[in-house]
Order: sequence, then structure tokens, then C-alpha cells
Amino acid sequence: MPPAAPRLIDRDDLVAALDRAAAGKVTVISAPAGSGKTSLLRAWADRPGQPRRLALVQVPRGQQDAQQFWLALLGAVRHAIGADGSADSGEALPAATPDFDASAMVDRVLSELADAHGGVTLVIDDLHELLSPEAPTQLTRLLTSLPPQTHAILTMRHDVRLRLRLTGELAEIRAADLRFSELEARELLDASGITLADQDCVGVHPVRAGG
Ligand SMILES: Nc1ncnc2c1ncn2[C@@H]1O[C@H](COP(=O)(O)OP(=O)(O)OP(=O)(O)O)[C@@H](O)[C@H]1O
Ligand SMILES: [Mg+2]
Repeated sequence: MPPAAPRLIDRDDLVAALDRAAAGKVTVISAPAGSGKTSLLRAWADRPGQPRRLALVQVPRGQQDAQQFWLALLGAVRHAIGADGSADSGEALPAATPDFDASAMVDRVLSELADAHGGVTLVIDDLHELLSPEAPTQLTRLLTSLPPQTHAILTMRHDVRLRLRLTGELAEIRAADLRFSELEARELLDASGITLADQDCVGVHPVRAGG
């Protein structure tokens, strides 16, 4: 069994900010390692009453293989659509093939998203780990062609070569937004049993606060 995820300090304002951002087409959460990107996603995705169907993909470290990425995304979309039992196609994922056609795969994902009544939100964590050179072009095409009611949230440690600003529907959450407030930092430290002098506790990132 995987170890239980550590309890997160509530960051309701940030969760609400992500919710507002996610009303647009594409949200990029871009900040260095340990800034709290995944934790924010987790808090947002798991919050009670989350009404969206989420297709979640975590890009493995150093992913060179675009095909593996797209198969994982297609699988996540199908899982999201089938999760409420209403529309699972039951179709097996295509087998990996040496003739992989990324462009055809983008069309396929778009078509399955278009058929998903009520829409799906794609959530891709650690996009900077996708190292396949052609992936940004295909991903840009996916993100700029998303059907109605479909949204995407991407996290990355540094900007990835996506040409998204053209869509006019890009929202961004950056390191400054993720920084813990003094109150949040105190709560985090209290939870760890650490007491600091007043001046030591301003504007920290979570990983620094913990370590
Ligand atoms: N709200 C929170 N409450 C408690 N701890 C938190 C919170 N947010 C982040 N942390 C802690 O800070 C550390 C870094 O957070 P997280 O893994 O979310 O960062 P990240 O930006 O996703 O980093 P990476 O780029 O390495 O994936 C984790 O150990 C996490 O438990
Ligand atoms: Mg992370």
C-alpha cells in the first residue's frame, strides 16, 4: 500500500484562485521544485463537492517517449469519462507501436473529449518532464483545440515551449502566488512542532518551511 499522503495545511484562497483560473481554457501553474504545485492540485482535486471530471496524468521523470505520454493521457480521459458509469466506451487502449502517429493521437484525444458530455478537465502534473522534442507542438495543438467544456491545468517547474498566449484564455499561477503567507507558514511549522521567532517566518515556500 502506498504511504498515506501527508496532511496539507488548508489554502482555501489558493484553491479558490485555481478554481477561478480553471474556469478558463488553460491554466498553467509554473514554479520551482517544492513550491507546492502538486499539493495545490491535490487539495483542489480532492476537495469535497469537486464537480469536474478530472483526467489526471503525472509525467514520469525524464519522459522521452511521446507515445507513452499520449497513451497515458488517452487512458486518463477514458477513465474520467467512465468514472461516473455514464459513458465508458470500454475500448482497450491502442497498443504501443513503432509507427506511432502523434498527430493522429491528438485527433483521437480531441474526438473523445468532444464526445464526453459535460466536459472533462485535463490535469497534467510535471509537464517539464516531457522531453520528447515534438511533444510541445502536438500539445499546443491539443490545448488550442479543446472542445467546449473541456479545460486543462498544467504544472511545470519552468516554462515549456507551448504557444498558448494566442488563445487569450490562459491563466497562470506562479511562484509568488504559491508562497505561503505568514499565517500559513506558522500553521505549517506549528503542525511540525517547530517554533520560530517572529522575523523568521515571512514569505516562505512550503519545502523550505518544512526543511
Ligand atoms: N498546503 C500544504 N500543507 C503542508 N505541506 C505542504 C503544502 N503544500 C506543500 N507542502 C509540502 O511542501 C513540499 C513540496 O510540495 P509539492 O510537492 O506540492 O511541490 P511541487 O511544486 O509539486 O514540487 P515538484 O516540482 O518537485 O513536483 C511537500 O513536501 C509538501 O508536503
Ligand atoms: Mg509536484
